[in-house]
Amino acid sequence: MAKWWKNAIVYQIYPKSFKDSNGDGIGDLAGITEKLDYLHELGINVIWINPIYCSPMEDNGYDISDYYKVDPLFGSNEDMDRLLEEAGKRDIKVLLDLVVNHCSDEHPWFQKAKADPNCEEAGYFYFKTTDDGQRPNNWRSNFGGSVWSQLPDQRWYFHTFSPKQPDLNWENPKLRKKIYEMINWWLDKGIAGFRVDAITFIKKDLTFASRKAEDGYLYPIENLTDYPGIEVFLSELKEKTFDRHNCMTAAEAPGVGKETFRSYAGENGFFSMIFDFNWESMEGEADKSAIDAVERWKNRIFQSQKFTYQNGWSGVFLENHDQSRCVNKFLEEDCRNYFSTTALAVLYFYLYGTPFIYQGQEIGMTNLAWKTIDEMDDVRAKGMYQEAIEKGEDPSKVLKYFGELGRDNARTPMQWENSENAGFTTGTPWMKVNENYPAINAADQEQDPSSILSFYKKVTRLRRDPKYQDTFAEGNFSPLYEDVPALIAYTRAKDLQTVSVIVNFKKQSQAVPLTSGTCILNNYGSLTEKDGQMLLAPYQAVVFASVPLD
Ligand code: NOJ
Ligand code: CA
Repeated sequence: MAKWWKNAIVYQIYPKSFKDSNGDGIGDLAGITEKLDYLHELGINVIWINPIYCSPMEDNGYDISDYYKVDPLFGSNEDMDRLLEEAGKRDIKVLLDLVVNHCSDEHPWFQKAKADPNCEEAGYFYFKTTDDGQRPNNWRSNFGGSVWSQLPDQRWYFHTFSPKQPDLNWENPKLRKKIYEMINWWLDKGIAGFRVDAITFIKKDLTFASRKAEDGYLYPIENLTDYPGIEVFLSELKEKTFDRHNCMTAAEAPGVGKETFRSYAGENGFFSMIFDFNWESMEGEADKSAIDAVERWKNRIFQSQKFTYQNGWSGVFLENHDQSRCVNKFLEEDCRNYFSTTALAVLYFYLYGTPFIYQGQEIGMTNLAWKTIDEMDDVRAKGMYQEAIEKGEDPSKVLKYFGELGRDNARTPMQWENSENAGFTTGTPWMKVNENYPAINAADQEQDPSSILSFYKKVTRLRRDPKYQDTFAEGNFSPLYEDVPALIAYTRAKDLQTVSVIVNFKKQSQAVPLTSGTCILNNYGSLTEKDGQMLLAPYQAVVFASVPLD
């Protein structure tokens, strides 16, 4: 089957914060439909919408209480049909989020299991009772605290994330069958596939033995991903669902290393692709513009590209709903500008993989300056803040950490225009709007040919240009001028065509040998050439093609 998603450009939508159509302050499906022309114009051809199913919204929809129904906050199933139809008219495919490691504690399955330990649904979850009444082991949840919470009847239940997100027991064939039916129901409805949530957590170490915790406190559950035996579940999942549709699946698969990558994202892997999280390595750097920090980062990206080219396919991205904004994450404050922001776009867009754009990234949205933890919404930030305070850590340090790296940075409302609430809603926005919307908004940038948005349109058009798209989809990846510090450059080559991507990731100019071919993209108005060299300006990014095929 044709791997259509190799030429996809995916735009990720966090529905609560994208566009509110009815003035209740919360983004919705009709709001997405309203903005399809904007997305089409941006040049993307797939959207991934974060969870829209019925949910108590403990984790903004990653806690599902009805897999078959759109949450009234976002509209109705009819709104979804309309969105699919309107998207189809614009050749835009729609991916939903598949959250099957856990559901909500308000899902009828859990409600039944809670009421009756002997019912069928009790077998859909992990319950334990201990002789001493203590929690069954010392594993720490991803959102802070233990993975175990207790019911009034003394049973403990397991949750990788919040206590309101009980884990589903994949060992149970009846549960697995229900999940497959639900997946096929959505695929039959016409969605083009799924982004797959936290999938490497579905197999547990069934001994549930405590492990040595480095902080002497709790053992991070994040170390227990991709646990042996998971391949049995994932093969079955693929066979019973995805293989029956020509769909795209992009898995969030923490813990997948070189040994198992192929089984996940190889030619016949469980999924079309997994996300490449190597980009995050820049986060820990104290000075992001230091040459050695850029070199370490470049090295990680290149290693990962070389490996992926040999072994499979990945989703490449700068931002998502769990991370801070890319201008903050990859650039020091004094380096944040039009050139560096567009250089980031060029840098990742032509790599081997499917590029994803997160809402607002295309206009250069930034982190928000948070003043207190109460301004934040994220269940993870709140849980971990609480845990840190209990351990005696300095609250201002914890706030600073989440201010820089917290998930809420990506979840502030989309900045559509220079009007109240950035044009996101006519009501009261559910989350604080970044006050920089007069300077950063889509409407102004649409009018301005030299805006970040206008440049993103060029970037997407080049990625999907029929003259080059086979090279971008299949071309060999090779580093270029690898030894030149703070120069991030690579080639993609297929048959007679070579495309070279050259980015000066530095706040000073630097000279590199002149590349043969024609310059087909440049984030500056011109390119200075002298004595067989090109003098790249700070954060200048250029793309050359050796044989432009007609
Ligand atoms: C990963 C998702 O990206 C994140 O937003 C969510 O909180 C967890 N999985 C739990 O579903
Ligand atoms: Ca709304």
